[in-house]
Amino acid sequence: MEYLAQSTRYQQMLYRRCGKSGIRLPEISLGLWHNFGYVDRFDIARQIVLKAFDRGITHFDLANNYGPPPGSAEENFGRMMHDDLRPYRDEMIISTKAGYLMWPGPYGEWGSKKYLVSSLDQSLKRMKLDYVDIFYSHRPDPETPLEETMAALDLVVRQGKALYAGISNYPAEPTQKAASILKELGTPCLIHQPSYSMFNRWVEDGLLDVVEQEGIGCIPFSPLAQGLLTDRYLNDIPLDSRAAKPHGFLTEDRVVLMLPQIKKLNEIAVRRGQSLSQMAIAWLLKDNRVTSVLIGASSVQQLENNLGSLAKKDFEKTELQEIEAVLLGK
Ligand SMILES: NC(=O)c1ccc[n+]([C@@H]2O[C@H](COP(=O)([O-])OP(=O)(O)OC[C@H]3O[C@@H](n4cnc5c(N)ncnc54)[C@H](OP(=O)(O)O)[C@@H]3O)[C@@H](O)[C@H]2O)c1
Repeated sequence: MEYLAQSTRYQQMLYRRCGKSGIRLPEISLGLWHNFGYVDRFDIARQIVLKAFDRGITHFDLANNYGPPPGSAEENFGRMMHDDLRPYRDEMIISTKAGYLMWPGPYGEWGSKKYLVSSLDQSLKRMKLDYVDIFYSHRPDPETPLEETMAALDLVVRQGKALYAGISNYPAEPTQKAASILKELGTPCLIHQPSYSMFNRWVEDGLLDVVEQEGIGCIPFSPLAQGLLTDRYLNDIPLDSRAAKPHGFLTEDRVVLMLPQIKKLNEIAVRRGQSLSQMAIAWLLKDNRVTSVLIGASSVQQLENNLGSLAKKDFEKTELQEIEAVLLGK
C-alpha cells in the first residue's frame, strides 16, 4: 500500500540542537543495526521505520556492515527509500559509517581514506541515495594517522556525498584531536556517537565534557543496553530476543548477571509510572549534552513504548539517588 506520512508527525517530538551546528535532531532516533537485515522480516522492518517517521523521528542511523548479512540493512532501507520515503528525503537525516570489517583485503576496514571513500560509495548505492546527511568514522584506527581519516571525512563532505562528518567510539583525547583537525580542514565535527546507558557510563569520564567544549552533538547508542534495560528479560529469555539469537553480541550470561539490577530498576520505573525502557531513555535525556538517544526496536510496539518516555522525562532528586544506588550495587 502506498505510504502517506501522518500530517501530525511534528506535533509531539522535540528536536535538540546538535552541538553548535544548524541541525536539530529528534530526542529519539532510530538505528538499524539489528532487526533490519535479510535475516529479519522486511514487512516488520518497514512498519517500524514508517511508524518512526510518522511519530516525528527524522533521523535514521545505519552503517555499511549492518545486517546480517553486512550491507543488507542498507539495502532494505534503500528499498524503503525508493518505495515509500523518497518524497520525504529532505525531511530526513540519514547517517552511515565505515570502520569495521566490510570486505576482504587490506582496504576493507579501519580508517584509511581508501576504505572510507569506497565504503561510502557502496553505501550510497545500497541505500539508493545521492548523499547521506552524516558520514561517520565508525571507530578510531590506531595505525592510520588521524589526519588521514579526518581528511577522508572532509573529502566526502566537499564532494557532496555527505553533508556532515561524525565520529563514533572515539575516546575523549582522540575526539579532541579529531575535532581540531576537522575544524582546521573547514568541516567541523557535527556529532559523536558513543555507547552510553545506565549500564555503560564511560562517557561520563571526560568524553561528554569534550563534546560540550568542542560544540559537538552527542547521540548515545545502545541506550537500553541492547534490551537489558527493558522488561524483555524480567521473567525469562524469550526465544525471539536478541540474547537468544545466534548473531549479535548480547549473551545469555550477561542477562543472568544483570538481572538483579534490572529488577530493582524496573521497580523504580513502575513507581514512576513508566516502563523500564522509558526510564532508561529519560535518564539519558536529562543531560542536555545528549542531543538524541539512538534506540533499536524489533517491533512497532517497542518503538511506541520507547516514544512514551518523552511524556515523563523529569526525575525527582530521590529517584536519581535511588537509581544511582542500584547502579553502584549498593
Ligand atoms: N556506533 C556504533 O559502534 C554502534 C554500535 C551499536 C549500535 N549502534 C547504533 O545504535 C542503535 C541502537 O542500538 P541497539 O539496538 O543496541 O539499542 P538498544 O535500544 O539498547 O536495544 C534495542 C533492543 O532492545 C530491545 N527493546 C527495545 N525497546 C524495547 C521495549 N520497549 N521493550 C522491550 N524490549 C525493547 C529490543 O530487543 P529484541 O531485539 O530482543 O526485541 C531491541 O532490539 C543501532 O541500531 C545502531 O544504529 C551504533
